[in-house]
Amino acid sequence: MRFSEELIEEVRARNDIVDVVAGYVRLQKRGSNHWGLCPFHNEKSPSFSVSGPKQMYYCFGCGAGGNVYTFLMNYENMSFLEAMKALADRAGVQLPEMEDNAQIRQREGKRARLLEVNKEAAKFFYYQLRNPRGAMGYQYLQKRELSDETMHKFGLGYAGKNGADLVQYLRQKGFEDEVIKEAGLASNSERQGLSSQFWNRVMFPIQDINHRVIGFGGRVMGDGTPKYLNSPETPVFDKRRNLYGLNFARTARCGNIILCEGYMDVIAMHQAGFTQAVASLGTAFTPEQANLLHRYTENVLLAYDSDGAGVKAALRGIGILREAGLTGKVINMQPYKDPDEFMKALGKEAFQERIDKAENSFFFEIRILEGQFDMSDPEAKTKFHREIAKKLCEFSEDVERDNYLQAVADKYLIGIENLRKLVNGYAAQTGLAKPVERPRSGVHQKNSPEENAKKSQRLLVTWLTDEPALYGKIRKYISPEDFTDELYRKVAQRLFQGLEADNFQPAGIISMFEDEEEQREVAALFNTNLPQLNTGQEREKAFHDILFAVKKNSYEYYTDKLGSDVNALKQAIEGKKALEELAKTHISLD
Ligand code: GTP
Ligand code: MN
Repeated sequence: MRFSEELIEEVRARNDIVDVVAGYVRLQKRGSNHWGLCPFHNEKSPSFSVSGPKQMYYCFGCGAGGNVYTFLMNYENMSFLEAMKALADRAGVQLPEMEDNAQIRQREGKRARLLEVNKEAAKFFYYQLRNPRGAMGYQYLQKRELSDETMHKFGLGYAGKNGADLVQYLRQKGFEDEVIKEAGLASNSERQGLSSQFWNRVMFPIQDINHRVIGFGGRVMGDGTPKYLNSPETPVFDKRRNLYGLNFARTARCGNIILCEGYMDVIAMHQAGFTQAVASLGTAFTPEQANLLHRYTENVLLAYDSDGAGVKAALRGIGILREAGLTGKVINMQPYKDPDEFMKALGKEAFQERIDKAENSFFFEIRILEGQFDMSDPEAKTKFHREIAKKLCEFSEDVERDNYLQAVADKYLIGIENLRKLVNGYAAQTGLAKPVERPRSGVHQKNSPEENAKKSQRLLVTWLTDEPALYGKIRKYISPEDFTDELYRKVAQRLFQGLEADNFQPAGIISMFEDEEEQREVAALFNTNLPQLNTGQEREKAFHDILFAVKKNSYEYYTDKLGSDVNALKQAIEGKKALEELAKTHISLD
């Protein structure tokens, strides 16, 4: 459900973006903009700009951009609704009660209650660990070389031998047995009545990205089974959609996220300074978790166990990452079993080297595949090559497939033309290698005619935004239809409407778009680097050129469409006339 456009706009207008961003990023005023180090990528000199007049931010380094809503959504990972609520609060705007539906309220009430009981239980475990009665747990964690600081950061705790203690504590705090049971903290047993699920274990509270405790993992101290006992799924604990450690890793911003198998691995990595480590929650890595990761990074490094099960899990993980459009690499942990043991044995510098040498996921897959064939047997070797060809077909993009083909042929000494024949054969057989839409593949055709056309359109939009008075001088030459990209056209429609009404709010236009990528693109439209020119004459020529380029592209675009689009004829005729007139018109910028 969305609030009305007016209200969205009011809340936006009452939160000055410079003030809001300054709460997170140190800014310095230079010209009409404020500048700082971009919080969305790593950089040493500021390319992140915040414009008071435009009420927008834009990073010239990484292209992050948007209005005050976009900023909170990206920085705090809020949903639009959450950002809206936070900003309404900040500005003292009363939002109408939307969730008047009793059922929704009840559900929210239940969730809130479960989160409260989890938090209280986490406190209980935390104090037990630091109490003489929890000495066993504390010694266990010390033996595993965790510092007090680390234990504190992850809120580690201890569940004692008396299962009634937790229940008694929670009841005292006012929690009903129903809630305690539904949170998976305790269950009824005939002999003891309601009693803790976790018993004589060190406890790992599992937090969501907002640091709220949503469940627990408990490790037995020694060799008992099960080794780890995890909370069951509850209305607040969705194992498919959360990751252990992500509440810290999401702000690590070091260009990658490291995915491990175990909680202890994550903790050991963070202790060594690799705060970008996360793990799934006692179950296999899921597509939902991959999408979640995609909000924070493009690059995922797998740090799975080096045993057979770990390799199998890594192979599965690679497929899931690929589906989600993420780049996966595999960290080699040999000769150690897992990151925790590796770190203890060789330390963080050695681990950093392993990160730097992480293996491309495709080569990892091929290398594992190779192990299944006897390379001294020509028959088996041929089969291996066929398998490689099949795998190559999975790359939908010609360039990428060919690059891998060359690399793998080199590496395994396969005749490149023979391999190419095999690939083409399979591709034809299976109908594979037809382009599959892959979002955000990162391949942009720079300098294509379309890109050039879009560039002029961006320049024009930015220029008009910076100098709205120019609009009056060119309005008879230009219309939203001249913007040949659909997104650009929508923006131009709004922009021109606003300019006509002498009330235009570029930052408000961003809120029309719900998709994060679109918001980013719209922000880019308003923040293109204009040519830095000294004389008025140069500026006038540049502006004229841009306008002319936009118009010319539009004319060609509609000429192309003659016969297939009813509007095209009108646009083409109008375009031709405008071009002729523009060619002999001088537009003054004063
Ligand atoms: P340590 O022996 O404490 O170092 O454990 P580890 O981190 O090396 O864990 P391991 O590789 O054995 O398992 C990885 C993850 O799988 C753990 O963090 C748990 O989430 C999960 N897991 C392990 N054992 C069990 C189990 O017996 N039951 C369940 N449900 N999950 C388990
Ligand atoms: Mn381990």
